[in-house]
Formats: sequence, C-alpha cells, structure tokens
Amino acid sequence: MSSNSKIKEYDLEYIWHPFTQMKEYKEEEPIVIEDSDGVYLIDSEGNKYIDGISSLWVNIHGHKAEKINNAIKKQVDKIAHSTLLGVTNPAASILAKKLIDLSPAGLKKVFYSGDGASAVEVGLKMAFQYWLLKGKPNKNKFVCLKDGYHGDTLGAVSVGGIDLFHSTFKPLLFESFKINSYDSTEKMINELEIVLKDNHEKIAGFILEPYVQAAGGMKVADDGYLSRVRSLCDKYDVLLILDEVATGFGRTGKMFACEHDAITPDMLILGKGLTGGYLPLSATITTNEIFETFLGDYEELKAFFHGHSYSGNPLSCAAAIANIEIFEEEKTLEGLKEKIATFEDELKEFKGLSNVASIRNKGLMAGIDLKLNVDEDISYSIKERIGKKVCENAMKDGVLIRPLGDTIVLMPPISIKTDELKKLTRTVYKSIKEITEKDD
Ligand SMILES: Cc1ncc(COP(=O)(O)O)c(C=O)c1O
Repeated sequence: MSSNSKIKEYDLEYIWHPFTQMKEYKEEEPIVIEDSDGVYLIDSEGNKYIDGISSLWVNIHGHKAEKINNAIKKQVDKIAHSTLLGVTNPAASILAKKLIDLSPAGLKKVFYSGDGASAVEVGLKMAFQYWLLKGKPNKNKFVCLKDGYHGDTLGAVSVGGIDLFHSTFKPLLFESFKINSYDSTEKMINELEIVLKDNHEKIAGFILEPYVQAAGGMKVADDGYLSRVRSLCDKYDVLLILDEVATGFGRTGKMFACEHDAITPDMLILGKGLTGGYLPLSATITTNEIFETFLGDYEELKAFFHGHSYSGNPLSCAAAIANIEIFEEEKTLEGLKEKIATFEDELKEFKGLSNVASIRNKGLMAGIDLKLNVDEDISYSIKERIGKKVCENAMKDGVLIRPLGDTIVLMPPISIKTDELKKLTRTVYKSIKEITEKDD
C-alpha cells in the first residue's frame, strides 16, 4: 500500500472532521493537501488548487511566506513554548507592542488565547467581571445579532445567531438579547436602541462582527452603521465588543474593519489571520479603563482568573510578528485597492448567471447566493447540496472553495495576484454555470 493510500485509509478510519457529515464524507475519496506554493495548495497527487478560502479564512500572505517560515524556524531553535503565567517571553512581548500600535487609539492591553472562540470567551467573561468589579453585577447579559457567529464554545454559541449550528445546543446556553435585523441599518439601529433603552442596566456588552457577518453568509452592512452602534453603546453604558476574527488583517481592505468608521471598540478580538494563517493564536485587546478595574491586592481576588496552556506561545507570536512586518514592508494594504477593484469588476459578471440571486463583498470577502428560481425567490432544497456541488466542480478546474449552504464564499489570501484572482472568479463562474444551468 502506498503511503498516500495509507493516509487516506487512516483519515477515513480515525478522523472525525469538523462541521462534516461523516457518513457523506466517507463515501468520497479524501483529498490530501500536502504541499503549497503561494496562493496554491498542492495535493498528494500533485494537483494544484487556488486556495479560494484562505484555508478557512486564515491565510494572509500566501503559503510558504519566506519571512514567516524563517521567523518560526528561528524561534523553534530557541524555545517552542513557555508559559505566560507569571513569566513572559520576547515574542509575546514584542507582538503585544506591535498589536497596540496597530489597533485603534485607546486600546492598550493584549490578552492572548489560542483560537477565535477562546478569545471571544475571554471578551465575554472580562466584560462580565468588569461590571461586577464596578459594582454593577446585574450587567451580566449580552446583545448579539441574528446570523452572528463567534465560534463553537458554549459562551460563543450563546451569543451566536445561526440556527443551523446553534439551536441544538440551546439547553446548554445562557440567554442573550438578539437583534434580528442586520439587513437594514435603520431597522437594526432602531431595534438596538429599543433593547438598550429598556435593558441597559442588565447589559454588559454588545458583540458583533463589524461590517461582514462571515459564517452567517457573508452579509455586508451599510457604510457608517458602526459609528452609530458606537454612539448607542456610549449612550447606554454598554461595552462594544468587536469580533474581527474573520475581518481582521486586511480582509475588508483596511487592517481592521472598524477602521472604516474610525471607531475604537472597548474590546477588539483577533484570531485567524493574526499569524498569517500559520499557527493558532488569538487576542482580546482592551482599554486601560477595563484593565485597571481588575487591579488590587491579591486577596481582593479581582484578578482575571482565566488562561490557556498555550497563551502567548512563542512560535505563534513569532509568526504573528513576521505577518505584521510583511504588511509594513510590502505595504500590503496599499496594494489591496487595485485588487479589490478587479475583484468587484469580476463579481459583477456573476449577475449574468440565472441562478445567482445576490452578490456581496467587502474587500476580498465575498458571498454569492444561489437560488433555484431567482424571480420567484425559491431556494434549492437542502438535499440538492447545490453549494457543495459547485465547489466540487470548481476543484476539477483547480480552485478549492467551501460554501456556506447555498452561498458560495470567496476569500482568497490578500497576497493573491490579479491574474490568480481572475482565475479564481472565472473558474467559480464557470462552475456555477455548469452546475446550475445543466438541466436548463
Ligand atoms: C467572526 C468569527 N469569530 C470567531 C470565530 C471562531 O474562531 P476559531 O474557529 O478560531 O475558534 C470565527 C471562525 O470562523 C469567526 O468567523
């Protein structure tokens, strides 16, 4: 048996894949990604695919980015891991300074975790304890949004709003106030104001994904809505917690999506792209006002009793420093403008496809909704697996993407070159056409 067939056999025998119906997965031959080259993934048979979803929205400067590779190699020759409980390490310390320099003015302290969901848990617990320490124990609920997604741990699911993923776990969750309208800014702001006005004495914070609800279907908000959200949170003394796990590090065209409105949240949550998509690391970044509330003599027990084994892991932090330095050295954000313009031109073409109901993007994050009948607003049946079929078909032409139901998601590494970007969009266009129009 070749080592490749062994890998496939062991995978099918022993791995339980995330977000995957394993009965269905077992019916197909697994694709083994074992190498990479810039924006391309390479499988064990030597096939190359454009990484059209940045390996689940994490990769930033492409795979095998020399600077990040070297930073990790250099770090591993010194030490792979030591704890942040009671001691520090150079990479965690230097990265914290870089993150504060990069973050909106007023954010001053970095709390490290391992993945996005953990950083969200930190934000929720920190917000709750902040109000407790301020003598307001009743401010212990959160406002969140329908179709919001903040990860899969129970706190993060409690403030999530995707029924498909979250409703099963309802008996395990704490209650939150949910705002139902994201599609209309006016309605959303009105609804938010009503909830805050009536309940602000019970509310610790409002958590949302600024500008793009990613897992909720790449829903894009109207320009300027975030500064209105900030004003309402100020008016009703509620913390604004922005989850930029998906939108951070250039995806929307700015380093962070909150920069579109030039606002400072009370907490900024980063993950995924923080290490350039190399290693797990996340951060909950907050203000001195919040940090200082936790200070006191040990016996007052005001400390934030929360931590993770790998908080501030030196390898991850070294990768993150290199990731940020590439932004600085290559002026990545400046180069993005042209790419986003090309991307938007390409996306316009999809309007010509008869089963494309809508197309949305913010920067290099995009969602394309497919419908059985666009004019009559009829969706495909869940059994049809139309999104999955489109993605599988695109793989034959060298593009790896993954849908959210019937929404085709495009989120390439921001290092993607214009010709690669065109190959991505044109392959996906062709795939949608072949799959949706084949019986017409
Ligand atoms: C906005 C947002 N928050 C949090 C998470 C959870 O991050 P992780 O999968 O690293 O736990 C995700 C993951 O997709 C996300 O998109």
